[in-house]
Amino acid sequence: MARYSAATVASAGDGRLFSPSFERNFEPIREALAPYLGTANGTVLEIGCGTGQHVAHLAIAYPALTWLPSDIDATHRASAEAWAAHTNAGNVEASVYLDASSDWSADPILDDHLPLAAVLSYNVIHIAPWAVAQGTVVGAGKALAPGGSLIFYGPFKEGGRHTGEGNARFDVGLRAENPEWGVREIGDLAVLALDAGLGVPEITEMPSNNRLVAFQKL
Ligand SMILES: C[S@@+](CC[C@H](N)C(=O)[O-])C[C@H]1O[C@@H](n2cnc3c(N)ncnc32)[C@H](O)[C@@H]1O
Repeated sequence: MARYSAATVASAGDGRLFSPSFERNFEPIREALAPYLGTANGTVLEIGCGTGQHVAHLAIAYPALTWLPSDIDATHRASAEAWAAHTNAGNVEASVYLDASSDWSADPILDDHLPLAAVLSYNVIHIAPWAVAQGTVVGAGKALAPGGSLIFYGPFKEGGRHTGEGNARFDVGLRAENPEWGVREIGDLAVLALDAGLGVPEITEMPSNNRLVAFQKL
C-alpha cells in the first residue's frame, strides 16, 4: 500500500500531512473538474484521499457540493480531517474508511449521500492491485446518480502506449516494487465502465503527461 506518513512527508504537527505533488497538481485539477462539477449537486466521494489536501481545497473551490474523503489508511483519514479543520471548509464530511476493492457502494456509511454526484480517484489505481480499479468502477456504477461522474487522475496508457518516457520508467519502477501495481490502460477502464453502466471515457490532457479520465453514469 502506498502510504504517506510523518516520516516520509512533511507534517505540520497537527495531523496534517503534506504531499510533495499537491501544490503542482492542484490548480490544473481544479480547473479540469469544472465541466463535471460546476453545476453538480450532492456529495462527491474521494477514494484514496491521501493527505486530504485535495478534498479540503476542492471543497472551497466547489462550495455547493458536499465532500466526503475516504481512505483505507487511518493516518491519511486523520490528515484529511486536520486539513478540513485548517482550511475551515464547512462542506467536508468526516473522513471514512473505504476499501475501493470491496463492494463499497453497499456500505451504510454512504446511505445519507446516495446517489453520489461524483466519485474521484487521484493517483490511486496504479499504486494498488487491479482489484482497486475494478472495485472503484463497479461501485461508482451502483452509487452514482444518472449523469454523475467517475473521475480518475494520474498517469495512464492510451492505446497500449505510455504518454511519455517518464511514465514508462515510472511503470517499470512500480511493477518492480509490487507486481500487482502498474500504470493502467484507459481502454481497460473503459471495458469495466461499460459493464458498470457508465459511458465512454472523456480524456483531458494534464501537465506532466498525466490524464484526467471521466466516465458518466448513463
Ligand atoms: C499515492 S496516494 C494518493 C493520494 C491522493 N489521492 C493524492 O493524489 O495526493 C494513494 C492513496 O490510495 C490509498 N489506497 C490504497 N489502496 C486503497 C484501497 N484499496 N482503497 C482505498 N484507498 C486505497 C492509499 O492509502 C493512499 O492514500
